[in-house]
Amino acid sequence: MKMVASKYIKTAVVITALPLVFASCKKAGGEYTGDSYTWDMNYSRAYETYSMMPDMPNGMSAITPVDGTVPYVGNAIAGVKSDSLTMALNLPYQLPNTPEGYNRAALEVKNPFSINDKEVVAEGKHFYDIYCAVCHGAAGDGKGFIVTEGKYTAMPPNYFDPVYMAMTEGTMFHSVTYGRNAMQPYSYALSKEERWKVVTYVKHLQAEYASKQAPSAASDTTASIK
Ligand code: HEC
Repeated sequence: MKMVASKYIKTAVVITALPLVFASCKKAGGEYTGDSYTWDMNYSRAYETYSMMPDMPNGMSAITPVDGTVPYVGNAIAGVKSDSLTMALNLPYQLPNTPEGYNRAALEVKNPFSINDKEVVAEGKHFYDIYCAVCHGAAGDGKGFIVTEGKYTAMPPNYFDPVYMAMTEGTMFHSVTYGRNAMQPYSYALSKEERWKVVTYVKHLQAEYASKQAPSAASDTTASIK
């Protein structure tokens, strides 16, 4: 009796194991990608973007943009207007990191902010003190402490040298975005809006400097925000 039972068990084990043996045979080919047990979780079904889907809020697979959505327009940064501030700040920066892009930035890229906007200047100062002052100096004279301590041998410019006084905001924005020679790019740390604010602050420092040099130009500048 005992013998018979164990025979049945052996047979049952062999029968149960057979599919596993065959399954492992399938894998030998190298092209077999494996079994999938949760098929509908692994492979989601693709829908056409604007196909009919009654369960969706507006009856189709893609939801239409909310009211007030600003459309993406190709090279719009070149012609920033005051009423398109939001759009300009949300567009990716279009000019390439090439000498040509650098030259075009000087002429085409306009600061959406004004150096007379005290709030913007104050925010720009905040970012400047964090990211730029170590090299360029809190005053903008190129005497940041890692320079005066002799730890940094590349010479950050003095913003009040004529060549930098004449530099356009577009050039500055381009250089802060992509970096310039020994200076690293800041697009990793500062959003487009923040980079513009920091550039606005640099221009504000220059305007203050200019007004001290030639008191008659004082009416063009804002009061110190310290
Ligand atoms: C680690 C030091 C360092 C820091 C930090 C730094 N810069 Fe500079 N920056 C330099 C040096 C060096 C140059 C000169 C690059 C050259 O022309 O070779 C320079 C050049 C510039 C120029 C002139 C660019 C041009 O086109 O000639 C501007 C504008 C400028 N920096 C702004 C900034 C701003 C704004 C920040 C902060 C977001 C900043 N820098 C942070 C070192 C630094």
